[in-house]
Amino acid sequence: MNNIWNELPHGFTVLAPMEGVTDVIFRQVIARAGRPDLFFTEFTNVSSFASEKGRENALERLAVVPTDAPIIAQIWGKNPEHFAELAGALEDLGFSGLDINMGCPDRHVNAAGGGAAMIRTPDLAVECLRRAREATNLPVSVKTRLGYTEVNEYRDWLPVLLEEKPAALTVHLRTRKEMSKVPAHFSLIPDILGLCRAFSPQTKVIFNGDIKDLAMVRELSGKYPQVDGWMIGRGVFENPYCFTEHEPIQTELLDLLRYHLELFDLEDGRLKAKRAMALGDGGDTKVRRGLAFDPLKHYFKIYVHGFPGASELRAKMMECKNTAEVREVLKGWVSMAQNACKMV
Ligand SMILES: Cc1cc2nc3c(=O)[nH]c(=O)nc-3n(C[C@H](O)[C@H](O)[C@H](O)COP(=O)(O)O)c2cc1C
Repeated sequence: MNNIWNELPHGFTVLAPMEGVTDVIFRQVIARAGRPDLFFTEFTNVSSFASEKGRENALERLAVVPTDAPIIAQIWGKNPEHFAELAGALEDLGFSGLDINMGCPDRHVNAAGGGAAMIRTPDLAVECLRRAREATNLPVSVKTRLGYTEVNEYRDWLPVLLEEKPAALTVHLRTRKEMSKVPAHFSLIPDILGLCRAFSPQTKVIFNGDIKDLAMVRELSGKYPQVDGWMIGRGVFENPYCFTEHEPIQTELLDLLRYHLELFDLEDGRLKAKRAMALGDGGDTKVRRGLAFDPLKHYFKIYVHGFPGASELRAKMMECKNTAEVREVLKGWVSMAQNACKMV
């Protein structure tokens, strides 16, 4: 089987996994604005997948569409058996690789023994990685942080992972304790890269943290030409075109928002139809629960910011209860703006 990590261009870009953000809908939005070289899913819990109750939800999170390819499934947990079970299923779901989250600082995730808690349980981390790898032909990678509490923990922690020769290693240049509250430690890149090359020369090394856009990727690549790839997360909030050189104008951002709404409706309809069929009521989608609307509001600021009247427009959109209402608000605002232009 081909190893996707060897097919990417040197200095490749990756969209960071972001829970509640980089779902199948938003990835299509980014693909339209300008895609990275590689997508990651939000993370999926291995024990949810292993349970009868959680499996359907886990599979929904792992839904992919053609514009996602190539895409890596990110998974988390602490049960090695469950890692093996989910890893074994991913190849048939359309993924090019699987990544294990060993960096999430969320206290619920850490209390469950996953994410950054693995930095404190290196033997278990290695066991999970090995079990996942034995269960699949897909390349297995890891995303982690410098350490749990202290920055220099990376000197002991990263070699533990590198001894396992992961296909790729993404290092978020902060500790768990630092969350995202301090600037990423870019100055450590040469040292970390040296460690990676010494312990596992074939592992692709990706850095993450405070990288905003393609211009910054170019700057960092110029400074650190040996680095294999760069991962951007919150940069998409400031500019969904951040994987391109394009500076979008306001109408393009509003068009992208309309596309997001359209994808939301499609996914909502698909989900309702699926649930209606599963429950045997002849496909009556009206009675079935679809996608929750309120989480969609988190995205509004991405498309509506930085122009006169943006916050007023956003406030109106936040009061909406469905996509049809959002479209109406947008229509009203656009015609008002056009009339104002005519009067000048
Ligand atoms: C809302 C949100 C959700 C996140 N969810 C995940 C996740 O599911 N898996 C993961 O490895 N990291 C997750 N992260 C961390 C990001 O992938 C990334 O490491 C972090 O935001 C730093 O990169 P940035 O400065 O480019 O945003 C999340 C971050 C945010 C802001």
